[in-house]
Amino acid sequence: MIVTRTVAEFRAARDELLAGGQTAREGLGLVPTMGYLHEGHRSLMRRARAECSAVAVTIFVNPTQFGPNDDFTRYPRDEARDLEACAAEGVDLVLAPSIEEIYPEGACTTVSVGPLSRVLEGAARPGHFDGVATVVTKLFAIAGPCRGYFGQKDAQQLMVIRRLARDLVLPVDVVGCPIIREPDGLAMSSRNVYLSPEERSQALGISRGLRQAEAAWVDGVRDADSLRALVRSEIEAQPLARPEYVSLADTETLEELAGLAGPGALLSVAVRFAGTRLIDNVVLGG
Ligand code: PAF
Repeated sequence: MIVTRTVAEFRAARDELLAGGQTAREGLGLVPTMGYLHEGHRSLMRRARAECSAVAVTIFVNPTQFGPNDDFTRYPRDEARDLEACAAEGVDLVLAPSIEEIYPEGACTTVSVGPLSRVLEGAARPGHFDGVATVVTKLFAIAGPCRGYFGQKDAQQLMVIRRLARDLVLPVDVVGCPIIREPDGLAMSSRNVYLSPEERSQALGISRGLRQAEAAWVDGVRDADSLRALVRSEIEAQPLARPEYVSLADTETLEELAGLAGPGALLSVAVRFAGTRLIDNVVLGG
């Protein structure tokens, strides 16, 4: 596995890898991450490994997607452990750049994805998706033609990235991958390490609420308000949980559903436990 720190090093290593033997699986698989890798990230690497002839992971805690009250400085980091995880998953190439490498002095171009970026996570974290869209566009530009792997846990992020790749005609296939959960149902996230044991146990109300609403939908409950209320009451039963939103929205536009929820509707939540903010979602009907 080759670890690079600069765009030039990354591109030279990528060119060499791709010039190597042709296999049944063609091209580069790119897994952009902010590090502190867990099983969710590893599932993206495994999928890329199965589908692509070369696999690259980027590890970069992107400052521009954190707001002034977000957790940029305390975001967990452990590069040595991350590199071990990448090597164990058969990753060929890692880019772990400095902030200056990605945002050189004077960098002032940003990418903004319009209305999709301004609801839900975008409303709660103004500017967040401009930071995500800008860095992901840069990472795609650095990588060149590739398949880009992203988790469905950040469902809105995945939609924003699909839209930017389409609108900017980028030579990237965006691949969405399923949410990976702990055995007790908690969606895996680098931020789970912030939870106290009590918060960790109450956080299970999130996946429980989503599961209950999903089961109700399967049993024929279609009223959007009733489905949102089911999730909200399960979360609000946890004394340490502060729900920021419980949304049931159209999967294409993210507009809140007013009447009935058909298959494909996105049920998503953001919940605060003191300083820790967790998100999770389920797509009704699978
Ligand atoms: O999902 C993440 O880890 C980040 O938002 C991403 C896509 C790597 C951009 O910084």
